Amino acid sequence: MDVLQAVNEPVWWRRGIFYQIYPRSFQDSDANGIGDLPGIIGRLRYLKDLGVDALWLSPIFPSPMADFGYDISDYTAIDPVFGTMADFDRLVAQAHASGLKLILDLVPNHTSDQHPWFIESRRSRDSTKRDWYIWRDPAPGGGPPNNWLSEFGGSAWQYDAASGQYYYHAFLAQQPDLNWRNPAVRQAIYDVMRFWLGKGVDGFRVDVIWHLIKDEGFRDNPPNPNFREGQPPHQALLPAYTTDQPEVQHVVAEMRSVLDAFRERVLIGEIYLPIARLVAYYGKDLLGAHLPFNFALLSAPWNARRIEAIIAEYEHALPPGAWPNWVLGNHDRPRVASRVGAEQARVAAMLLLTLRGTPTLYYGDEIGMHQVAIAPEQVRDPFEKNVPGLGVGRDGCRTPMQWSSAANAGFSTAQPWLPLPDDFVRENVLNLEADPASLLNLTKALIALRKRCPALVTGGYEPIAAQGDLLIYRRRSGSSSVVVALNLGADPVSLSSDAIPLSGEILLSTFMDRVAEPISGTLDLRGNEGVITSAVAAG
Ligand code: NOJ
Repeated sequence: MDVLQAVNEPVWWRRGIFYQIYPRSFQDSDANGIGDLPGIIGRLRYLKDLGVDALWLSPIFPSPMADFGYDISDYTAIDPVFGTMADFDRLVAQAHASGLKLILDLVPNHTSDQHPWFIESRRSRDSTKRDWYIWRDPAPGGGPPNNWLSEFGGSAWQYDAASGQYYYHAFLAQQPDLNWRNPAVRQAIYDVMRFWLGKGVDGFRVDVIWHLIKDEGFRDNPPNPNFREGQPPHQALLPAYTTDQPEVQHVVAEMRSVLDAFRERVLIGEIYLPIARLVAYYGKDLLGAHLPFNFALLSAPWNARRIEAIIAEYEHALPPGAWPNWVLGNHDRPRVASRVGAEQARVAAMLLLTLRGTPTLYYGDEIGMHQVAIAPEQVRDPFEKNVPGLGVGRDGCRTPMQWSSAANAGFSTAQPWLPLPDDFVRENVLNLEADPASLLNLTKALIALRKRCPALVTGGYEPIAAQGDLLIYRRRSGSSSVVVALNLGADPVSLSSDAIPLSGEILLSTFMDRVAEPISGTLDLRGNEGVITSAVAAG
């Protein structure tokens, strides 16, 4: 194999399909209404049958759970609610034995205020760990040092009466930001990475990686001229001095070099930035994040032309050699089935699994779980509690996995920590497995087709001009080529051979019928239908 071929050889994180598990909500094994690691182990068979290749677990480390695990009080242990280190080791071993990779959430931007580092830092101005966090004197006239806002409401500065200083928290006051300008902090987190990599984990999804470095001069953020009532209050300012600072690129490169000391591990960055800025996180010479999460589809209007434009912008912005990725849902955003509707959720699944790049599926999206209504007394999310009434709550997309029509959807024998929707008796894994045309079986078929069709994994992306609700593209690798035609509208459409010369056959329809139906010249799509064809389309 020559060098170029070796470089192009697709490694697992380019070939594979990622699946995000929100551990609190996947499977409870000890009857406390909260999911855990033994629960996940018991569901590895399901994940294997689904066909995914890598599991990313949201945080499982000791935490006061102010932000449900994104407030960590010990980076190198397992929270008892999720199990023990022995359970974790078993999970790694069994996942690997079934050919599944395991990725952990790394939360380096902030700790819990209960972390020993912060307890020590807070002790006094002279603490040896004082500079591990971001402490500032009050503004000259009193009050917070500057105008920076917390993403979860209010000032980002919390006053500490004992020492007369403020500390910075981009999220909750219980989540003080670490000072990433301090080399000791960097080394401490790199040691955490080495601890888990040494245990065999296959990589990290790094929480808010674009937040790590803040402006050295602590300048005020400028007002956002486009701020409208109804947006979360922190959006009143542009985060010019709190996120995406140039120096963060050095930190990402350092993290990457920690990872590169181990074989074939992946670095994924959580980054909410416009595409033009996002792609900077691949790093100089691609020595940054392997996969800066591409969230463009999370907020895209469900419109064929807009999505076509997003794909084009992304494809053009990618640095040479950078590998793309796509995401349709996560634990912070409304469920895709609720954003686009149940019918289009099938088209969305076909889009996600046929675009060029690594797809990440959010647990439950494969069975069409929708946003669950949360009554005021059931709200758990601190974002919703701090900023009520704007619809920012994330509980509705974090509800228990719907496994069966049994009590509590087979998730737990106890009352789950978040409610289940009434329709779980119908919309659950067991029922949908038995229905040949279900979204679950469509997802499995899409994954299986992707695996046996090299064009869908490594092939290039070629847009095909279309109008209205149609989104069409070809994926081609050498002599292997498929065309994906998606109808993002509810009305039927007919593609005539004058517009797009077609021949070949249908490999898969989102309706799960028409298999091997020949195409001769025209292709008719029903409303809300997507098809993958072996057709040769002259582009
Ligand atoms: C991003 C995580 O995805 C989100 O759930 C969390 O609340 C914030 N980071 C703060 O850690």
